[in-house]
Amino acid sequence: MNKTIGLIAGSLRKASFSKKIANALIPMAPKGYTFTIISLDDLPVYNQDFDDDKNLPQSYTSFRKVLQETGGFIFITPEHNRSIPAVLKNAIDIGSRPYGKSGWEGKPAAIFSNSPGNISGYGANHHLRQCFVFLNLPTMQQPEVYIPEVDKLFDDAGNIKKEDTKELLEKSVAAYIKWFEKNV
Ligand SMILES: Cc1cc2nc3c(=O)[nH]c(=O)nc-3n(C[C@H](O)[C@H](O)[C@H](O)COP(=O)(O)O)c2cc1C
Repeated sequence: MNKTIGLIAGSLRKASFSKKIANALIPMAPKGYTFTIISLDDLPVYNQDFDDDKNLPQSYTSFRKVLQETGGFIFITPEHNRSIPAVLKNAIDIGSRPYGKSGWEGKPAAIFSNSPGNISGYGANHHLRQCFVFLNLPTMQQPEVYIPEVDKLFDDAGNIKKEDTKELLEKSVAAYIKWFEKNV
């Protein structure tokens, strides 16, 4: 069983709250597991010609290789206009190709959405689920993970200040690992 779990934050922003959540999850990996950040920072916008002409950006080749070497994924997504940030949708599309060789196929996933507001990225969370039905990523149903007021979550060093949110994340990671082991 491949126990490397990719943490994918749907933001390019240097000070991204989603990236901070991803970093905070790394030490929550249980014994035997490795939680590793999969960066989306260098991925150009998808163009099917890259695949059709077999002329891939190097960053696509590396990204697809990393997906193949990863056993499951936790997606930490913000919300843009009540949906998935374009950078995350772009990465999902890149990883889904070439046709028949998707790096997502059958890999257990969880979605942790967040926002400075109170709706907590609900729209992005559920639009991602729609993609994952098609891509055949078995996605954890419960607990649903919605993190509100994410702008108040971290201290200056990037540590989680709110104990209840830290506990929610720890419980959610534990539930995900059970889900992973059942579905892998
Ligand atoms: C184009 C754009 C659209 C946004 N739309 C939403 C939205 O629909 N819902 C929401 O809760 N926040 C929205 N926001 C605010 C983001 O939640 C906020 O910028 C957040 O910090 C982005 O995530 P990050 O910190 O991981 O970069 C939007 C921000 C941008 C730039």
